[in-house]
Parts: sequence; structure tokens; C-alpha cells
Amino acid sequence: MPIHIRRLTPADSAAFQSLRLSGLRETPNAFTSSYEEECNTPLSVTEAYFASEAGRNRFGAFDGDRLVGMVGVGREAQIKLRHKAFIRGMQVDMAYRGTGVGRQLMNQAMECIATMEGVTKVTLAVTVGNAAAIHLYESLGFKVYGREHCALIVDGVPYDDILMDKKLTNEKDESDLLSSVASSGFDQTI
Ligand SMILES: CC(C)(COP(=O)(O)OP(=O)(O)OC[C@H]1O[C@@H](n2cnc3c(N)ncnc32)[C@H](O)[C@@H]1OP(=O)(O)O)[C@@H](O)C(=O)NCCC(=O)NCCS
Repeated sequence: MPIHIRRLTPADSAAFQSLRLSGLRETPNAFTSSYEEECNTPLSVTEAYFASEAGRNRFGAFDGDRLVGMVGVGREAQIKLRHKAFIRGMQVDMAYRGTGVGRQLMNQAMECIATMEGVTKVTLAVTVGNAAAIHLYESLGFKVYGREHCALIVDGVPYDDILMDKKLTNEKDESDLLSSVASSGFDQTI
């Protein structure tokens, strides 16, 4: 059966929690949150999240009625940061990994971001050694811009994060931006 992608709603809360908890248990190094922090979350809290503005941009991949993957899209709220969107909570059910579900989810996430007026770049963080995720993001044009040492400590073991971004501006937008920076008199090298 083909996989279809759609926005998650409050009615998907139980399936979301179940997939999320299995991801947190099976691949704890891939997420900043942890199983212990989320296993007692009441269903009503997740339902309220999906009914809110903050929970609007979570997408699920479905095989029939079964939720088999998900990804979230966010946007910085502050005026000076609003040009940045980010990807979070990317996860595919173990049984469906390597079948193209992750790529479909990322394509949906990028389509969603493309509709956000004024967003010029997308950021994400991925744990060092997560070859599947890094390969997927690089194939979609994300580039490494940094590394956070000891970003996570899982069961006493420290892990670094690779920081990646993808610019969305076209050349004209970029030259407009550069000329507005030049006319502001602000020295970017400081
Ligand atoms: C990362 C993850 C979301 C990828 O989802 P997926 O459905 O398996 O991805 P896809 O099947 O679309 O594959 C994406 C690409 O990665 C490649 N890939 C898969 N496993 C790989 C591996 N171990 N090493 C290198 N590349 C790999 C695939 O071949 C594919 O590339 P291609 O289209 O050029 O052949 C999934 O592995 C997952 O849920 N991992 C655990 C949670 C996680 O790491 N989340 C990301 C947090 S940043």
C-alpha cells in the first residue's frame, strides 16, 4: 500500500504517543527528549498540543491507518530570528526504515516551510554517527555548519551533534539582503 502523508490532528494523539515512545526507547541517542520524560504524558496533553498552533505543523506518514513515521516543522518566534525554520522529531517506525518514508516526510516538511513567508533558511541537528539521517539531509541540500560538543549525555555517554542548515534564498533575495546590510552600516565581521 502506498504511504500517504498528512498533518497530524488530535485524533492521532494515541498513535503519535505510541510511535514516539518506541523511538525514544529504541534510538535514545537520536532525540533530545527521553522515554522517562514522556512515558506518563496524559493523552489529553498531546490532544491539546495538536489542537494548538504549536502542534499544527507535525506531519505523519500513514500505511493505511497505521502511523509509520512523523516529522515536525517549527519557526523561530522572535522578530530577529523569524527567518529561520527548523526540523524536529523526525522518526520512522523501525519496520519501515530504508523504504523511502523518511524522504517523503522531509519533502513534505520542506514544502510546508516553502509556504512560510520570510523564511530564508532551515536548520536541524543530528547526532554524530546517525548515517541514515545525515545521508538523507545531505541529499536534500543540507550542509554542515558546525558541531556541538557533548550535545547529549545518554546513560552517562556524551554525544556530539552535527548542526546542519539549508539556505532557501535565491540569488536575488541574497543580493537584496546584502545591500540592505551594507546600507545599514553594520559590519558583519565584528
Ligand atoms: C533517520 C530516519 C528518519 C530515516 O528514515 P528512513 O525512512 O529510513 O529514510 P529513507 O528510507 O527515506 O532513506 C533515506 C536515505 O538514507 C539512506 N540510508 C538509510 N540507511 C542508511 C545508513 N545506515 N547509512 C547511510 N545511508 C542510509 C537511504 O539509502 C536513503 O538514501 P537514498 O534515497 O539516496 O538511497 C530513520 O532512520 C529513523 O527514524 N531513525 C531513528 C530516529 C532518527 O534518527 N531521527 C532523526 C533525528 S535527526
